[in-house]
Amino acid sequence: MNQVSVVARKVKELHDASAPEYGSQKGHGFCSAEERGAWMNVLKGLSIDKNSSCLEVGAGTGVLTELLGAILNRSGTLYAQDFSRESIELNREHLTGKTEATLKYLEGDAHDRGVFSPIEDHSLDLIVARQSVVFFEDPIHVFKLWKGLLKAGGRAVILDALWDRFIWTGEWAGLVESLPLSCPGSIRSMTYLMEQAGFSIEKSYFLDEVNDCLGDSGARYPRFVIVAHPN
Ligand SMILES: C[S@@+](CC[C@H](N)C(=O)[O-])C[C@H]1O[C@@H](n2cnc3c(N)ncnc32)[C@H](O)[C@@H]1O
Repeated sequence: MNQVSVVARKVKELHDASAPEYGSQKGHGFCSAEERGAWMNVLKGLSIDKNSSCLEVGAGTGVLTELLGAILNRSGTLYAQDFSRESIELNREHLTGKTEATLKYLEGDAHDRGVFSPIEDHSLDLIVARQSVVFFEDPIHVFKLWKGLLKAGGRAVILDALWDRFIWTGEWAGLVESLPLSCPGSIRSMTYLMEQAGFSIEKSYFLDEVNDCLGDSGARYPRFVIVAHPN
């Protein structure tokens, strides 16, 4: 096994172990109705078509999947992908009865096109990744894969934060030097890599309402959104 695979295995193992508590952790789950509402407002601001074919990459235990599922209607399709089996099981339980859309789970590594085999090339309207691209060992490779999955006119949406290395503690700290986006110093760290992968950036901005709800965490690690489309 090469070094890349060792890192992926560790990322997966840590997420499997933390999945049961994930939804109750500040900054991961929603700690108040206001915070949930602020994230919903972010999605509403994207004017997502209710009939969309949508993929959530690194969907985890379903915190954001639930909001996406609430937006889509019965003509929509929502693929929720993750390599943490524990997270996918919790996501499945959490989403039960919460969306009219067709919900499909894809288990495996986001770097592997085979994981997305039920999705045809250039068929998706939307790809969303919340707090998962920071775990990718080869973000440009993943963004190129997204480009192949999106329709012309489709969009990739990254929701993340300007983390620093000190947020990564315990066993997670050992991953920092292996993950290129683990401590992005500016939004530009991500938009630049997306451009290198063949995306044009439509907009990027800090999520003021979300950051206000998060208090100190929102001030120190400001959450942001990037909206991009394939060139
Ligand atoms: C911090 S959690 C975010 C979960 C969810 N997006 C949310 O907003 O609550 C990161 C998720 O990305 C997943 N992940 C990280 N790297 C991945 C990879 N290479 N392939 C698949 N899933 C990955 C983890 O297993 C975990 O569930």
